[in-house]
Amino acid sequence: MNPFASMNKYLLGLKMVPINLGELFFLVEAPCNVYGFQNEQYKLILDTGLLINRASIKQIIDNKFFHIYVKEDEYAKYLASFQDAMRTLTRSLSVGDPNKNAISLMNVISLHMRHVYFDNVNDESLKLQYQGVKTLAGFLLEHSKSHPLIMTEYDKLKHNFIWAQPILSSVFLLGVLKHSQVMSKNEIESLFIASYFKDIGMSVISVDKYEAGQLNDDDKLMLLQHPKYSVQLLSGRVPLAHAYLSVIQNHHAFSLLNSYLGDEAISHTPEKVMFGFETVMVNVIDIIAAMISGRPFREATSLYDSLELVKSLIADDYPREFKLIVHYFQQFFSSKKKI
Ligand SMILES: [Fe+2]
Repeated sequence: MNPFASMNKYLLGLKMVPINLGELFFLVEAPCNVYGFQNEQYKLILDTGLLINRASIKQIIDNKFFHIYVKEDEYAKYLASFQDAMRTLTRSLSVGDPNKNAISLMNVISLHMRHVYFDNVNDESLKLQYQGVKTLAGFLLEHSKSHPLIMTEYDKLKHNFIWAQPILSSVFLLGVLKHSQVMSKNEIESLFIASYFKDIGMSVISVDKYEAGQLNDDDKLMLLQHPKYSVQLLSGRVPLAHAYLSVIQNHHAFSLLNSYLGDEAISHTPEKVMFGFETVMVNVIDIIAAMISGRPFREATSLYDSLELVKSLIADDYPREFKLIVHYFQQFFSSKKKI
C-alpha cells in the first residue's frame, strides 16, 4: 500500500510530516524523533539525539521503512538541522573531490526543494535554495567537462522527476549556453537560476498530491498556470532581473503541458510569437530534458526523437538555436558513453 495515498495525518492523534530517507545521510544525529509507517501505524525508528550513520540508515531500509516522518510540531527543528547541513555543504564545495561535492550539492538541493514547495512562502528556505543553486551554477561553469559524469551519478540517485527535472534541464541549459559562447558567465548563471526556479509555481498544489499522483481538474488547471505563479512567488524574493522573470513567465511558450498532464482534454495551443534567444533555449532544453527522462506515466524518449520534435517546433524560426542544440547534445551523449 502507498502510505501517501491513504495516510491519515491524524492517526494516533499526531500530525505527521513526511521527510525523505535520503536526507538522513546529511545529518549527524536525529534532531527530533523520526517515525516510520508500517502496518497502518507509525513506529519510532530514531530517537532524538541518536547518532545517524550508514549502519543506522541501512537498518531502517532493511526494516522496510521507506516512508518516514517527523511530528508536525517538530518539523521546524528538523528542517533547521537539515538546512544547517545544506549550508555547510554549499560553503565547502571547494574542499575535497569537486565532482563528489557537486553531486552531493545537487542531491541536497533536490531534497531541499521538497521543503521549499511544502512551505513556499518561507523566505529562509527560498534564500538557502537560491544560494545552493547559484553556487552550483558557478561550479558547473568552471567544470563543464565533468557534466556527463555528474549527470550520470545524479541519475543514480533516482529523485522524483518533480525535483530532478529542474536540475536536469538547467544543467543541460548551462552546457548549451557555455558551448554557444554568446553569453557572459553572469548571464549564464542568471539564466541557470531562472531555469531552475521556473516551475516553483507548481508548489501552489500540495506536495502530497504530486507524490500520490492525485491531481484533480482544479489542480490541473492551476498546474497550467504555474509560470504565472512562479513569477509571483519569486518577485522581490530572489535577486533575478525582470528579463529573467519574463523568461520564466514564457517558459511553456512552445510547450507540451498536455502530455505532461497526461490529459488530452486540456488544450493549450501556443500563439505564434517570436521569442528571444534566452526564452527559446529555456523552453526547448526543458522539453528535451523532460522527454529523455522517464516518468511514472511514460517511458523515456530517445534523444533522436526529442530532437525531431524540437526540430518541428523551432528549426524554421530559430535555425541557429536548433543547430547549436543538436551539436551540444550529440557531443554530450558521446562523452557520456565513454564514462
Ligand atoms: Fe514548467
